[in-house]
Amino acid sequence: MSAGEHSDAFVFFGATGDLARKKIFPALQDLVKRGVLDGPVIGVARPGWSIERLRERAKESLQENKSFDPKAFEKLAGLLRYCEGEYSQPSTFDRLREILGPAKCPVHYLAIPPSMFATVVSELGRSGCANNARVMIEKPFGRDLASAQSLNRCLLSVFPEQAIFRIDHYLGKEPVQNLLYFRFSNSFLEPLLNREFVHSVQITMAEKIGLEGRGRLYEETGAIRDVIQNHMLQLVANVSMDAPTSHDNEALRDEKARLLRAIKPISPEDVVRGQFRGYRDESDVAKDSTVETFAAMRVHIDNWRWAGVPFFVRAGKSLPAARGEVLVFLKAPPFSVFGEDLCNGARPNYLRFRISPDVTIALGVRTKEPGEAMRGDEVELIATEHGGDQLDAYARLVSDAMKGDPTLFAREDAIEAQWRLVEPILGNLTPLSEYEPGTWGPKEAERLTPWANELDTPKVKS
Ligand code: BG6
Repeated sequence: MSAGEHSDAFVFFGATGDLARKKIFPALQDLVKRGVLDGPVIGVARPGWSIERLRERAKESLQENKSFDPKAFEKLAGLLRYCEGEYSQPSTFDRLREILGPAKCPVHYLAIPPSMFATVVSELGRSGCANNARVMIEKPFGRDLASAQSLNRCLLSVFPEQAIFRIDHYLGKEPVQNLLYFRFSNSFLEPLLNREFVHSVQITMAEKIGLEGRGRLYEETGAIRDVIQNHMLQLVANVSMDAPTSHDNEALRDEKARLLRAIKPISPEDVVRGQFRGYRDESDVAKDSTVETFAAMRVHIDNWRWAGVPFFVRAGKSLPAARGEVLVFLKAPPFSVFGEDLCNGARPNYLRFRISPDVTIALGVRTKEPGEAMRGDEVELIATEHGGDQLDAYARLVSDAMKGDPTLFAREDAIEAQWRLVEPILGNLTPLSEYEPGTWGPKEAERLTPWANELDTPKVKS
């Protein structure tokens, strides 16, 4: 398989699962619409399904997502094939090999429980389905460093590194790419992003939703494994890494991995874990569960550029708002020329990268209010603002994997660095505090920093 060879078949394991329903069918329809996908789409599912049922499932999923497009769906339905069988049965993979027929460069998407990875990967190898093929896998990439390494060995025993596409869907999000674009395509900003000018950085991934029936999975993960180890640390890297030094598609991943290696393993004293009241009453959750649904922490980057600048990271479920945001607070002016209390009272200048629900890049500054007094107020200079992602992250990532472009996928060295960072805080090493659903997590999180919960847009100047 050459790097630029376009995949000519899409196989997905877990075709009847939750991820397929919520994300993959909509992404596939989008790709059909954009002309990226016109080869067979083969859903592997348990016996008892049929091609009609699979098509119906795809249609329902698109309707639920409010993305159903009759014309594009008709084309997608025509491309769909059903491969019947259990993942544990070699015959399933022999059947898949037949259905793949003349496909030269298939991509296999594994949206399946981690316990099935090893079997499916080795059967893909044995049956010949892995020949000249690519594989896409979903997080979790292991539960800790050792299991991530063992998963990697398993993948590498069948697929070469350049054929492995590890999905952290945050990397496919348009505003996450805009964060990098804005940083490295403007010259005014980079001189400011360092310990001379930055006071602190806050990164929040707040979800209003609770478990939504994912109790069993969540009991195995918790917020730190579910979103901090991957999405949040990737955001830390995006806002703090150095500029890539070439256009080579590994250059970005090289810089990111270098930055992640510079972060100190997170210390238990720098962590606050929370669980929303009522979590233990959810189905498939243990009555005495100590799994966290909220985590806040201080992250230290031990390099020349960032030493001493705290990065505060938090993520949680059942919070008051659904919001993803990176806020970079600059230091206050060293001396107040006009007598205003800029050091304590006013908010410092800041840079805001809002990832969801709206997409915004803005700079918070002060300007003088009209009148005799040298007094000012905050305004936000908005560089970009729109309603939401134009291109869904999954559509982007599936399309990139089919093209063989690994830039927006997590690389193994980065994943291992991320596990090294969170290993000291996994499990019950830190206390767990309860919080009321609909609040910003346990009060204890305030001991890390005053969080910018209500940082709404003041006045707007464009
Ligand atoms: C997933 C987590 O990776 O990201 C979920 O497993 C979380 O728990 C989801 O809800 C959030 O993604 P998004 O794109 O809705 O912000």
